[in-house]
Amino acid sequence: MSDIRIKGLCKSFGATDVLKNVDLEIGSGEFVAFVGPSGCGKSTLLRVISGLESITAGSLEIDGQRMNDVPSSKRGIAMVFQTYALYPHMTVAQNMGYSLKIARRPKAERERLVEAAAKMLHLEPYLDRKPRELSGGQRQRVAIGRAIVRDPKVFLFDEPLSNLDAALRLRMRLEISRLKDELPGTTMIYVTHDQVEAMTMADRIVVLKDGEVQQVGAPMDLYHSPATLFVAQFIGSPTMNVLHGEHAARYGAKTIGVRPEHLRLSSSEGDWTGTAIHSEQLGADSFLYVDIGEEEPLTVRLDGEKDLPAQTNVSVVPVAGRVHRFDATGRAMVEQA
Ligand SMILES: Nc1ncnc2c1ncn2[C@@H]1O[C@H](COP(=O)(O)OP(=O)(O)OP(=O)(O)O)[C@@H](O)[C@H]1O
Ligand SMILES: [Mg+2]
Repeated sequence: MSDIRIKGLCKSFGATDVLKNVDLEIGSGEFVAFVGPSGCGKSTLLRVISGLESITAGSLEIDGQRMNDVPSSKRGIAMVFQTYALYPHMTVAQNMGYSLKIARRPKAERERLVEAAAKMLHLEPYLDRKPRELSGGQRQRVAIGRAIVRDPKVFLFDEPLSNLDAALRLRMRLEISRLKDELPGTTMIYVTHDQVEAMTMADRIVVLKDGEVQQVGAPMDLYHSPATLFVAQFIGSPTMNVLHGEHAARYGAKTIGVRPEHLRLSSSEGDWTGTAIHSEQLGADSFLYVDIGEEEPLTVRLDGEKDLPAQTNVSVVPVAGRVHRFDATGRAMVEQA
């Protein structure tokens, strides 16, 4: 059991309000990702939950107990950071068991816990090595192992993979997802600005902007029903196409958005006509960029197996029911057109 309840939470540094009235409930055993642009308050929210930062206003409860004034060490929380500062002179096993040694846990118990964590993280062959003899991904796994041995109720990750190369990030993503399955009772909060990481690992995603929660939901809910234009453009790759002015007015909106996969080329006159200015073939799919005289070209996803259109003048139509409509404040209007 380890559910987290945050009510009306505010955090200011001096005169700067960094978190503004955040309400959030996280269920026991849930894996939640915090995403948002740099400086939106992701790390601050995580640090407030961990107790590394104080709360300016509002409340934080873990398992129904108010945590506002409980010190970090008494919250049952472990944190893994982007930089993982392992002790260079200690072996992997010593690094992983260090917090248990400090806590004066008996040697046999320490060894058992380190072994179990090493097994979970596929670190058994490296237990006697020093950190400098490990790859980046292996070091990051040791940092995670160091947190696991403490058997935390809540696991907090702050961009743990951002120092790793793309291939290693993908592998670690799978490892962390597997870890989630092996520790079903542990609540996990994962900060990232990589929306793909959030989409693939999280049960629910919290999108933050300027210290405010924009939307909380399952990845596919955010993808298909973004509550704001900001969420619509933040989630999904390539980014959703956005049109204003007359294009939007025709749909009774201030702004409309259509994902690249919800646009089709049309042989008759389409909603939008323009010039294909560039294409990218990625194998499974291709992206065609069509200049329709607006600020940004439309991105149209096409089947990668098919040939790209021969002519450069093309007509584009949206798939029925897949046009997202937004009002002047950027809020989603109830029905898609
Ligand atoms: N100790 C501090 N004192 C003053 N301002 C701070 C402090 N820590 C963070 N801030 C400010 O709070 C805001 C949010 O910072 P935070 O580190 O939470 O952002 P973030 O979403 O994690 O960004 P990033 O993706 O770049 O890590 C920033 O404007 C930052 O400058
Ligand atoms: Mg941060």
